[in-house]
Amino acid sequence: MSDTDAARLGELVDWENGLISPEIFINDRIYRAELERLFNRAWLFIGHDSMFPEPGDFLNTYMGGDPVLAIRQRDGEVRVFLNACRHRGMKICRAEDGNARNFMCTYHGWTYSTAGELINVPNLDTAYFNELDQRRWGLVEVAQVAQYKGLWFATFDPTAPPLEDFLGDMLYYIDAWVDRSPGGIEVLPGAVKWTIHGNWKLGAEQFGGDGYHAVITHASSLGTFDPTFLRDVQGIEFASRQGHGYSMIFDRMTRFADDPLGRYNESQVRARLERLGEDRANTVGNFTIFPNFSGLPGSANLRMWHPKGPNEFEIWSWTIVDRDAPEEVKRAQRTSAAFTEGAAGVVETDDGENWDLIGQMLERGTQTRRMAWNYQMGNGHESDNDPVYPGRVLRNYFGEGPQRAFYRRWLEFMTSEEWPVVEQTEPDRREHRASAMGALSATPRGGSR
Ligand code: FES
Ligand SMILES: [Fe+2]
Repeated sequence: MSDTDAARLGELVDWENGLISPEIFINDRIYRAELERLFNRAWLFIGHDSMFPEPGDFLNTYMGGDPVLAIRQRDGEVRVFLNACRHRGMKICRAEDGNARNFMCTYHGWTYSTAGELINVPNLDTAYFNELDQRRWGLVEVAQVAQYKGLWFATFDPTAPPLEDFLGDMLYYIDAWVDRSPGGIEVLPGAVKWTIHGNWKLGAEQFGGDGYHAVITHASSLGTFDPTFLRDVQGIEFASRQGHGYSMIFDRMTRFADDPLGRYNESQVRARLERLGEDRANTVGNFTIFPNFSGLPGSANLRMWHPKGPNEFEIWSWTIVDRDAPEEVKRAQRTSAAFTEGAAGVVETDDGENWDLIGQMLERGTQTRRMAWNYQMGNGHESDNDPVYPGRVLRNYFGEGPQRAFYRRWLEFMTSEEWPVVEQTEPDRREHRASAMGALSATPRGGSR
């Protein structure tokens, strides 16, 4: 039996009993299979509207192991192409973002339009005898692109179901982030990017559900500012059947610092209550949208966990603000985010230390790779019929339901030949989805391969 057989992976990931082998965080063959079966099929976050608002604006990002260029078109749509020249596969664009009229490959000069067409080939006559059919050599385009309230996603898989199905119950929770004010959110310019020597899933699983770590890991940072930090905390853990997770703390919008950010948040309490209702307005939550897109409240941080190898990932982190917030609030949010969750932030470095050391141990050890890890917290105490919150919900802030759901979904992607469709939202929850779906547009794309 090979490492990536369904039966072997099933042994490694016993999500039902909360037992996960760390082999899935270090094994190279499993990592390669993950790029193939998970990242080539799942919907992956690309960027937010505000990151590339104008025609010709582009973002350079990754879908799993592959570099992609997301480009705003003249009609406002977004198209996503493999950032690889059709001649010898060189990157056609190396800038992180910007605005371009076209993209010239720096190897031999093939040039592509923002719509992905090959528009210029040097020496077409003297080298190719005018026999190269340029129309056949445009950029490779991803199979589907769609957005939800300004968050753009893409998938390489033409058989992937619509984004709304992929997000499922998560729509209800993510609205507390992207739909909390009439103008929506704005991503402040500039991504902070850094590398961790660990496995990308360590970050993704933590943001989906691991409030438990914060009390200890962040005692020297968050605990110093607020000695009552997370004491007697009330909240829920949401585990989505689609693999997403959300940890929510209740009654958080009641204590505000006397600074521009605190005063702004205080001024928004009533409006947010009216917009989101009590269930979500007076809460903060962190999330992971399966597989590698996360958010952290307070520092208002969106981030991607980009895989770079079994034991290496890059964190790409953005700061978000209400688009309509005053400038001084935006500045304050940026400072707060850099201080806490930037690459050298006082909170961020706590987490990086854990992930990095775990990565080292798995890389060097053999026994450490064989020892199952415990994901049993709250198992059996969750409900699929919570009267307020959709999805599988634990009425406790500490729990590992989101992690179990994450690895259940991971296993499904890793072991299914077909795109692993699962049951959608519970029937009595359809209402949440119906209202959220109004804001969603899907744009199927034909590949130009
Ligand atoms: S690799 Fe791009 S032009 Fe040759
Ligand atoms: Fe943390």
